[in-house]
Amino acid sequence: MDTITTQERDQLKPAQAKLFREVLKEAAQDRYLSPDEEVAVLKKPRCVVILLNNAPVGFYCPKSQLWNGKRAYRAGTCFISSKHQGQGIMKRVLQEYFDRYQLALSWIEEGNVKSIALFTSLGFVKNKRKDYEGYPGHWYVRERLAVSAENLPVYLRW
Ligand SMILES: CC(C)(COP(=O)(O)OP(=O)(O)OC[C@H]1O[C@@H](n2cnc3c(N)ncnc32)[C@H](O)[C@@H]1OP(=O)(O)O)[C@@H](O)C(=O)NCCC(=O)NCCS
Repeated sequence: MDTITTQERDQLKPAQAKLFREVLKEAAQDRYLSPDEEVAVLKKPRCVVILLNNAPVGFYCPKSQLWNGKRAYRAGTCFISSKHQGQGIMKRVLQEYFDRYQLALSWIEEGNVKSIALFTSLGFVKNKRKDYEGYPGHWYVRERLAVSAENLPVYLRW
């Protein structure tokens, strides 16, 4: 049985850190990520590494921003190594991440079929157009009326 876990980048053991560099190298060559991704991800203040049976296979970079006056949570740059794509790994990890929040947001480049499929299957809905550094794309939004009680601070639980 495969185990999917997540870990802060800074907590990786040396052998895992080495494998993670390979994941970053592959990410840097992806059509939808910038060629500087390797450097960019290493500089991001928070980067969550996704492990399959303790070996790094991907990452996402959580962040938040204001959206119509409310705080919206994003997965930032996200990537799964090509040989592990399509196995439901990112969906499982992001489901757990986004389920804590009422408002979730993602910018997706036009034509990024895999990313559109991922976020649509998580319940995101296409919103207004936004071009980013010259690349056409759209915002995708998921807004829920309430989050599960166990994710609320103790004093707000019933
Ligand atoms: C986008 C990406 C992160 C998705 O990760 P993943 O682990 O392969 O996705 P999952 O296997 O969890 O799939 C999630 C959903 O997307 C669908 N999906 C995944 N790959 C797909 C593909 N190639 N074509 C169509 N749908 C696809 C799955 O069917 C699933 O939907 P479902 O549950 O309704 O069946 C991964 O493909 C990737 O790293 N792509 C390159 C980098 C990128 O584009 N990142 C996003 C921009 S930052």
